[in-house]
Amino acid sequence: MIMTEITPIKPAKKINPNAPTSETVLATKHYTDKLFSFSLSRPAGFRFRSGEFIMIGLMGEKKPLLRAYSIASPAWDDKLDFYSIKVPDGPLTSRLQNIQVGDKVLLGKKPVGTLVLDALLPGKRLFMFSTGTGIAPFASLIQDPDVYENFDQVILTQTCRDVAELEYGKKLVQSVRDHEFLGELVEDKLVHITSVTREDYPLKGRITTLLESGELFKHVKGGPLNRETDRVMICGSMDMTQDTKAMVESFGLKEGSNSAPADFVIEKAFVG
Ligand code: A2P
Repeated sequence: MIMTEITPIKPAKKINPNAPTSETVLATKHYTDKLFSFSLSRPAGFRFRSGEFIMIGLMGEKKPLLRAYSIASPAWDDKLDFYSIKVPDGPLTSRLQNIQVGDKVLLGKKPVGTLVLDALLPGKRLFMFSTGTGIAPFASLIQDPDVYENFDQVILTQTCRDVAELEYGKKLVQSVRDHEFLGELVEDKLVHITSVTREDYPLKGRITTLLESGELFKHVKGGPLNRETDRVMICGSMDMTQDTKAMVESFGLKEGSNSAPADFVIEKAFVG
């Protein structure tokens, strides 16, 4: 007797096209007890514009725990870099700070953001004002040759509470200057200005104070902010972005977006 085996038909698995992919940790580096950076593998087909952010995370007990992170590497790189604070009781960063090479980290699929060249009108000077980990999107942009094709001067500022917190930015700028292709491109265009608010340092004060007093403009060619020639990107805490935006607006610059490019754009850095 021949028995016919009937295979039950399984319901088709639902595939979420936006589900994060699982990427490999390629490197980690710790700067202070509060700051670290890491690199992830970049999936084939993952496209983004320099300056954009993406959801990053780890698997939680039931579902993924994801937060928005600016990508700190340029669009041409074959890995993805990130720069993060460590919050002792932060749901994600308390765990993320312990990742090791070879571990897996979840990476979203849809990079977005306003700190992109597309959201700005053409200009001559590009100012990037950052505090703390707000430097991350600018780490991406200062490694992008398009930035130097579009602007004569690229001025990156970073303000931190302590001198040690500036190390990531200083190393980054040095690596750009030493880079075999970028080095020549950035030579007399990239200006890096660092200031500190809670320790002794050659340049002291918040970016808002340096703008208001005019101190900042002693360190760049071309004088105060001018809507005709200058474009600005701002990234830091909620308070910093709002106060710096107000200061930039006092020079007559108008806020832009992807759909309506103008003179300046802002984005809040990830916290928590
Ligand atoms: P300060 O030390 O005077 O608070 P935070 O870690 O709080 O995000 O701060 C990072 C840097 O940003 C610090 O140097 C801090 O200066 C500065 N900062 C904080 N709030 C503002 C603000 N509203 N406008 C400009 N800079 C700010």
